[in-house]
Amino acid sequence: MIAVEDLTVAYEDVVAVEGIDLSVDAGRFVTVIGPSGCGKTTLLRAVGGLETPTRGRVRVDGDPPERAQQRANVGFVFQRHTLLPWKTALENVTFLRRLAGKPPDPDGARDLLERAGLAGFADARPAALSGGMRQRVAIARALHLGADVLLMDEPFGELDELTRETMGLEVRRVWRGERKTVLFVTHSVPEAVLLGDRCVVVRGSPGRIVDSIDVDLPRPRDRDVLESDPFQERVAAVRAALSGGAT
Ligand SMILES: Nc1ncnc2c1ncn2[C@@H]1O[C@H](COP(=O)(O)OP(=O)(O)O)[C@@H](O)[C@H]1O
Ligand SMILES: [Mg+2]
Repeated sequence: MIAVEDLTVAYEDVVAVEGIDLSVDAGRFVTVIGPSGCGKTTLLRAVGGLETPTRGRVRVDGDPPERAQQRANVGFVFQRHTLLPWKTALENVTFLRRLAGKPPDPDGARDLLERAGLAGFADARPAALSGGMRQRVAIARALHLGADVLLMDEPFGELDELTRETMGLEVRRVWRGERKTVLFVTHSVPEAVLLGDRCVVVRGSPGRIVDSIDVDLPRPRDRDVLESDPFQERVAAVRAALSGGAT
């Protein structure tokens, strides 16, 4: 589980987030939505141990983030892909897992690439791939690491609509199958509602949590759910929270 208590993170001249309390139970999928600059990336980086809290504390399955990192219990998908340019797509997917000392699983890696629509690109280097394809490799890498906790920062931002939907299904499939704990940042309201058990709305500067909307809709969520009234009601509630209106 992820436990964030009274978290404030300040950079030199700007307080990015303030007083964040957030708890994600093991196996839950929580989405974070908010306007650009409200501190979503900062929050995720603090949970991943990449930013040091100015105040408050973070625990990942009971560990400080740095320890969770060492144990390879946290997988990260950044807003922009971070592949090693000299490695092939397949090597990029497998190397983090190898680095973490986990048992190799080349078949699993190929399988993930295939499901990411990259079966024919296992031996291609990042320079030969489009931005969206690289991002899919980065997502496959995070899933292949086998961490219990996944932190995803607008991972579908560069993807076209169709691929976005396919990757969304894939992330949810893995999440359901392996009961991962996911904290997922997005700027798309429908995506936040579709993917989340709960949608946390962050606003302001410094960013604070202004609302948390339960999305108690049946899973798997298919097209029928998307068009249903309860789904649209949650979407409206998130939009209202984002614009500061009453929900
Ligand atoms: N490394 C940094 N140094 C200084 N300020 C930063 C840094 N990273 C982010 N900020 C500032 O912190 C605030 C929150 O940024 P960020 O977490 O990236 O928001 P979001 O991901 O919601 O767009 C912004 O005002 C941004 O300019
Ligand atoms: Mg960001």
